Amino acid sequence: MGERTIIPLIDQRTAGLPIPGATATPAPGSDLSDTRGRPLRDLRISVTDRCNFRCTYCMPKEVFDNQYAYLPHAALLSFEEITRLARLFIGHGVRKIRLTGGEPLLRKNIEGLIEQLAGLRTPDGQPLDITLTTNGSLLARKARALAAAGLRRVTVSLDSLDDAVFQKMNDVGFPVREVLAGIEAAQAAGLAPIKVNMVVKRGTNAHEIVPMARHFRGSGIALRFIEFMDVGATNGWRMDEVLPSADVIRRLRDEFALVPLAHSARGETAERWGYAGPDGRHDAALGEIGVISSVTKPFCGDCNRARLSTEGRLYLCLFAANGYDLRQLLRGGASDDAIGSAIGAIWGQRADRYSELRASGRVDPHTGERRIEMSYIGG
Ligand code: GTP
Ligand code: 5AD
Ligand code: SF4
Ligand code: SF4
Repeated sequence: MGERTIIPLIDQRTAGLPIPGATATPAPGSDLSDTRGRPLRDLRISVTDRCNFRCTYCMPKEVFDNQYAYLPHAALLSFEEITRLARLFIGHGVRKIRLTGGEPLLRKNIEGLIEQLAGLRTPDGQPLDITLTTNGSLLARKARALAAAGLRRVTVSLDSLDDAVFQKMNDVGFPVREVLAGIEAAQAAGLAPIKVNMVVKRGTNAHEIVPMARHFRGSGIALRFIEFMDVGATNGWRMDEVLPSADVIRRLRDEFALVPLAHSARGETAERWGYAGPDGRHDAALGEIGVISSVTKPFCGDCNRARLSTEGRLYLCLFAANGYDLRQLLRGGASDDAIGSAIGAIWGQRADRYSELRASGRVDPHTGERRIEMSYIGG
């Protein structure tokens, strides 16, 4: 491995972007569309900027040490504030809510928030698709309570089955068996379909691709391989540590018969492949895998995701440098109509497509404005 560039984090979460005027905003209930014709469907809510892991690609220890200034409690949105915003986002087309972190299960009484969100309905009376991305460390303890609160499904991050590799990647010596126990508990609690996300780094865990696939094949769990991304500014990202998804698929096809599957929803991040049976067709009992190729095959064209930070900033892209301060509206006494119009106006002028620009060489991942961290905004 070559030299790593780690840039210390300076706090740039100060001033929010000015909220655009709400003149040409569609009324809540009518379909929003950004400047590229993309609707708003997926709201990802970060509930804490803390995590008990120090994954080298996300929260490197050198930066996220005991000097690091996490958000103070008063800065966090309350569950009531989050639920109120979620309701207004639903009015603008959101149908899926993903809770993220940091590690979302570290937020005190997260079940209470899930209960409130599970009570929300779409304009035609349907419940939402509520899910959560977790490192799995607290899942064995919490899966049943989460399901009882109304959580539908979970996605668990797991980068290796080999304890030495996994402990090196989470960098806190957390054992893989406890994450596997968490996944089992989630299965037993009916939190389905479960997905497992593996960030692939060349030279670190790429040799675990086939063992991970073999382990989850036929388990009902969809394993997704994620290209190591240049998100944030502290993880020392280098292109030569990215293993392109095409290579992942090649390695898997040397071992297993795979057939391409259609997208299950517009704007989906993963390209899906199914395990084939002896007849060469997808065998649902064997399941599927996915590849998420933000670096080599960006999917901004259909990106329908908005991100709400722990302190109530609205970000329009995972690679954004700044967001819109909705907490200021909430705490300043703004009406539902005013906040709903602000959300509409913000989405209406959205033009973000960072990964496309990076892939075409029009932005340089090593320069430009300092991007937000994944631990701050979640996946
Ligand atoms: P499902 O509804 O379960 O299919 O969720 P998803 O496909 O949105 O997947 P998930 O939330 O698990 O995201 C998987 C990974 O894809 C994240 O951890 C990120 O690494 C990456 N990802 C998700 N959304 C985006 C995005 O908008 N842009 C980029 N560049 N990467 C993303
Ligand atoms: N590149 C790709 N994926 C990342 N994640 C965190 N940092 C990165 C990165 N640099 C993923 C984690 C987890 C989710 C929260 O985001 O693996 O699945
Ligand atoms: Fe924590 Fe997830 Fe980031 Fe790892 S990737 S440090 S588990 S938030
Ligand atoms: Fe969406 Fe930004 Fe990711 Fe592109 S890079 S898919 S615009 S979040």
